[in-house]
Amino acid sequence: MCGIVGVVGNSNATDILMQGLEKLEYRGYDSAGIYVVNGERSNLIKSVGRIADLRAKIGIDIAGSAGIGHTRWATHGQVTEDNAHPHTSETGRFVLVHNGVIENYLQIKEEYLAGHTLKGQTDTEIAVHLIGQFVEDGLTVLEAFKKALHIIEGSYAFALIDSENADTIFVAKNKSPLLIGLGDGYNMVCSDAMAMIRETSQFMEIHDKELVVLTKDSVQISDYDGNLVERQAYTAELDLSDIGKGTYPFYMLKEIDEQPTVMRKLISTYADADGNLTVDPAIVKSVQEAGRIYILAAGTSYNAGFASKAMIEKLTDTPVELGVASEWGYNMPLLSEKPMFILLSQSGETADSRQVLVKANEMGIPSLTVTNVPGSTLSREATYTMLLHAGPEIAVASTKAYTAQVAALAFLSKAVGEANGKKEAVEFDLVHELSLVAQSIEATLSEKDLIEEKVQGLLADARNAFYIGRGNDYYVAMEASLKLKEISYIQCEGFAAGELKHGTISLIEDGVPVLALISNNEVLAAHTRGNVQEVIARGANVLTIVDETMAREDDDIKVSTVHPYLSSITMVVPTQLVAYYATLQRGLDVDKPRNLAKSVTVE
Ligand code: G6P
Repeated sequence: MCGIVGVVGNSNATDILMQGLEKLEYRGYDSAGIYVVNGERSNLIKSVGRIADLRAKIGIDIAGSAGIGHTRWATHGQVTEDNAHPHTSETGRFVLVHNGVIENYLQIKEEYLAGHTLKGQTDTEIAVHLIGQFVEDGLTVLEAFKKALHIIEGSYAFALIDSENADTIFVAKNKSPLLIGLGDGYNMVCSDAMAMIRETSQFMEIHDKELVVLTKDSVQISDYDGNLVERQAYTAELDLSDIGKGTYPFYMLKEIDEQPTVMRKLISTYADADGNLTVDPAIVKSVQEAGRIYILAAGTSYNAGFASKAMIEKLTDTPVELGVASEWGYNMPLLSEKPMFILLSQSGETADSRQVLVKANEMGIPSLTVTNVPGSTLSREATYTMLLHAGPEIAVASTKAYTAQVAALAFLSKAVGEANGKKEAVEFDLVHELSLVAQSIEATLSEKDLIEEKVQGLLADARNAFYIGRGNDYYVAMEASLKLKEISYIQCEGFAAGELKHGTISLIEDGVPVLALISNNEVLAAHTRGNVQEVIARGANVLTIVDETMAREDDDIKVSTVHPYLSSITMVVPTQLVAYYATLQRGLDVDKPRNLAKSVTVE
């Protein structure tokens, strides 16, 4: 989703902005632009398409000491150069980039901007015209910005430059992520630390409804009424080498391959050398006290919640309910007594999940964010945080975050079960079982050629497909089908194998691909085999992904056996590779699927 970078006080501003935008590409975008100031001269350059297209338009003479840049993921107005950011005020004096949605932009236009000429259709352009108008009316820039912030409703991260005094960047945020990066003799602003990690590891948070006046040697944070706020800088724990692609053709493949390492990293994080768990006792106590656990999430994280549900219930004896974050923010159902909310989020920035957390905090409900990004909004605002330690996930299609989420929740569940004195939890040797999981994933990764070959005949030309499974395999089927849809654009549904015959089987005809997941439960396996026969009888083209202890000779992909609580982790890996190869074979960009954003910071 939209990304912001800004820099003030560095003679390499253009380079810093362009490198920053490249680092933000993973978030998903459809156009980009930069504004760079060099003394009296300034340049505003925009382009639809990739950052490479923008780069091609930038001449060697565009140097500058301050500027702002933006990647846009269209919400209001089509993907055009006019709608790309930065946007300018009526006279061109003010230049603004924005992430978020200004909900009252049409009212603002009607009430304050009669006679203004707008170049595009975005809500952002209205904001910068409003600020410009207030300055025309006699306010200082800071007063005009503050006044506009009091009027604007919705979500936003703003970075504003006054071309007549470009040694200051004015910054504000509400609901959308934005950070200050502290350089040596210069300062920066960015949507996430990844964009600026090449320049600095020192960052400063900005909270909602705070305004920052940023110069090369000062960071002044205040609320909208002008009360100054003290804020300590923090060191981002990101390693620049983590965010490179290395020799991999795509980030997705690199991230799929990293999963055994992530499993081992989680073992060393959440267990000591003797195998005793080191999960924060305060989190364990809070879950122990809960009458019901509610997992709220979006997309792949939502599917990871389902994949963990049975395991959490069995180990903790606490019922688990799942909620789609975008629904629960505004349609909160009746909750049971003593609820505890777990927010699952790779990025920790998903606006829908955050909206649920805001409600939970208002209601005094204890919350735990399970996220990959330390210091992210959901982490800061929840009562507790558990980190995934999966390393940056850049490909839009999430892979290692899903498997890390299930593994992290396994540590939590076992810790709670042990604290409750539950025999099953005490006897569940998670450290050993997860090392078997890491080995099982490695075995699957060594079968890439086989998977690629199986996919070739099956999905290269398919328009639609089905994944089926029972129990945990059903939940894996949901994630497997999301993965395939996201990047290969094959319409795919993840179905409970037994439910298929109650309607949807009417869609099965000659050649429709059906991918069946069968892990280690004999009864479920037998039933799913029956469902496979039903679709074969109607012409389906079937691929089976089967736990090796259940496997028959003619099964297509065999997965080495792990503890049933953890089978969602090992069963999902071949489906990630299925999606990857199907996408490659269809000639599509694996890492940057159309229309999608990695970090969805608008509701
Ligand atoms: C976006 C991404 C998905 C992701 C979802 C939730 O839609 O494209 O891949 O699963 O957001 O993201 P989160 O960061 O909260 O896990």
